[in-house]
Amino acid sequence: MNSSASDPCLTVVDENYSFTPEILDLPAQPGPAACTCPILSHLAEVHRELAGVHTGQVATYIPELAKADPDWFGICVVTTNGGVYEVGDSSVPFSIQSLSKPFVYGLALEDRGRAEVMEKIGVEPTGDAFNSISLDPETGRPRNPMINAGAITATALVEGRTSRMKLDRIVDMFGRYAGRSLEIDQAVYRSESDTGHRNRAIGYMLRNAGILTEDPAAALDLYFQQCAISATCRELAIMAATLANRGVNPLTGAQAIRGEYVESVLGVMGTCGMYDYAGEWLHDVGLPAKSGVSGGVIAVLPGQLGIGVFSPRLDRHGNSIRGVRTCNALSRHWDLHLFNRPGTGRSVIRVRSSAAELSSNRLWNPAEAAILREHGSRILVYQLQGHLLFASTELLVREIVGHDDGVDYIILDFKRVLSVNESACRLLAPLLAEYHASGRTIILTHADHLTHLGRFLRRILGARADEILQLSPDNDTALEACENRLLARLRPPATSPQNIVLKDFDLCRGLDAAELTALGQILRRRSYAAGETVIHAGDDARELFLLARGSVRVVIDLPEGRSKRLASFSAGMAFGEMAALDRAPRSATVIADTDTLCDILPLSAFDRLAVTHPGIKIKLLENLARGLSAKLRRANRELTVLE
Ligand code: DON
Repeated sequence: MNSSASDPCLTVVDENYSFTPEILDLPAQPGPAACTCPILSHLAEVHRELAGVHTGQVATYIPELAKADPDWFGICVVTTNGGVYEVGDSSVPFSIQSLSKPFVYGLALEDRGRAEVMEKIGVEPTGDAFNSISLDPETGRPRNPMINAGAITATALVEGRTSRMKLDRIVDMFGRYAGRSLEIDQAVYRSESDTGHRNRAIGYMLRNAGILTEDPAAALDLYFQQCAISATCRELAIMAATLANRGVNPLTGAQAIRGEYVESVLGVMGTCGMYDYAGEWLHDVGLPAKSGVSGGVIAVLPGQLGIGVFSPRLDRHGNSIRGVRTCNALSRHWDLHLFNRPGTGRSVIRVRSSAAELSSNRLWNPAEAAILREHGSRILVYQLQGHLLFASTELLVREIVGHDDGVDYIILDFKRVLSVNESACRLLAPLLAEYHASGRTIILTHADHLTHLGRFLRRILGARADEILQLSPDNDTALEACENRLLARLRPPATSPQNIVLKDFDLCRGLDAAELTALGQILRRRSYAAGETVIHAGDDARELFLLARGSVRVVIDLPEGRSKRLASFSAGMAFGEMAALDRAPRSATVIADTDTLCDILPLSAFDRLAVTHPGIKIKLLENLARGLSAKLRRANRELTVLE
């Protein structure tokens, strides 16, 4: 335990956070190696300042709580990215008391659904004390789940055949929120059970009103136990951060509550979590929060962070005095007020490009490439970024609708999208449906990490979702599909496939008939079945390939077993040509996409041409250089577009 009223213990729990001058490539300076963490410094400053506040009383109505050291004071902030910052007595365990209420309410919502829970518990704030023995006179229900009457009802609604099973489910749930299995402080539980007559009165009132349908003793006993669950200030902050992170514990990745119920939990915390102080709290601090009589306070900034504070001296509302003041100070200093959020900005579209500027990695033959240059603007790619919420998606939809003319294919790249909410899907879905109905196409790429996107869109699109929703793993695949569809409409009807003859190869441009014959004599024909590897990355290079029939793709391996296509070649193109110039080992793998015929020029024969047919060699080298410069130009164009 760090008793630390005047000497806060500073712990950088996320060790990656502290950085040294070496990492920044600066010359190491004499003196301390690591920079001071600005977050910890501020927490320490607030801790130092408020540790001097000694007003307020430790709760005594549950005798065991009276044993708390009034000077205990811990603060912890946990971000949704998993940063943990703690000062003071952040590792002292204490019973969470009313801090259990929003979490158990969330479990009741998951177990019973909103409608059933709403029949039993209201969501209106009340000016009454947390342990008031009253129901809403109009509805006959407890006014909200943060006062004891509502909390005991929520506990009774938790699923479980026996009390033991209900308790196990409650304790397991807290374990997922906190990232470790939590225990019940038996002394506190007994202490409250021995003295909790007022809560028993509330229980019988609920039974009398038909809110509880069974003997209230079991629900009360469960409620006493949930209040006696023991956690630290650090764990409270992790629990708060889990709510901030739509129910996913940012340190363990465990889903503690289904995301769709988080808004209800935070809603009642925002309006009722600080009892009679809720209005002033929301006005000044601006964060959904909850306090408990043992001295804990949690506050949640959705999407960003959770705060946990522990200091047992309470004000007249039953809220921790230092807890309230700490949250106030942090909210002011770091501008955390929920109603002071920045706009989404205009940055949702990172890059817009057309297939005329940036085509797929399939190398089309000159006639096809010319069609794509002329008509490629009918295929647009939008690289998106950030969070797709209502306002940011409105911008995207406005942009798409505004550029509707002459656009037949749209690729929406979600690779850099961090989240998509339901309202964004409600704006996108009609657009997808409309494009589909008019014979045009919108393809969504890199959307695997957005688990809600497909689900929401399918739900909105209904029966025709499978037809309308087009997903593709990456832009390259999607672009090639669009190019294929566009070419199918614009290219002259294909004649039956024939082997390409030597004179038609770009590589042979400028060779006369005699030279073509001479070259033909040194080529060797080889066939590959679809799927066969033609070139292995890393192998020594001994040959240059002229693709007479079929198509091949060039791929490189990426980390985590992924691979990326660098190019696809069709008949009439040469590949493996870089090695003819630099003789370096193969840098990529080439795989036959279809049954393939290749005319192969051994590099030893290519070398001998300098002596036997220097004219042929010069023309081949010129053509190789032209091909490489075309590739370089394409790479430059890609860089320019991405800039
Ligand atoms: O019901 C009670 O009295 C306690 N177990 C919990 C009360 C509580 O924490 C009120 N919050 N400030």
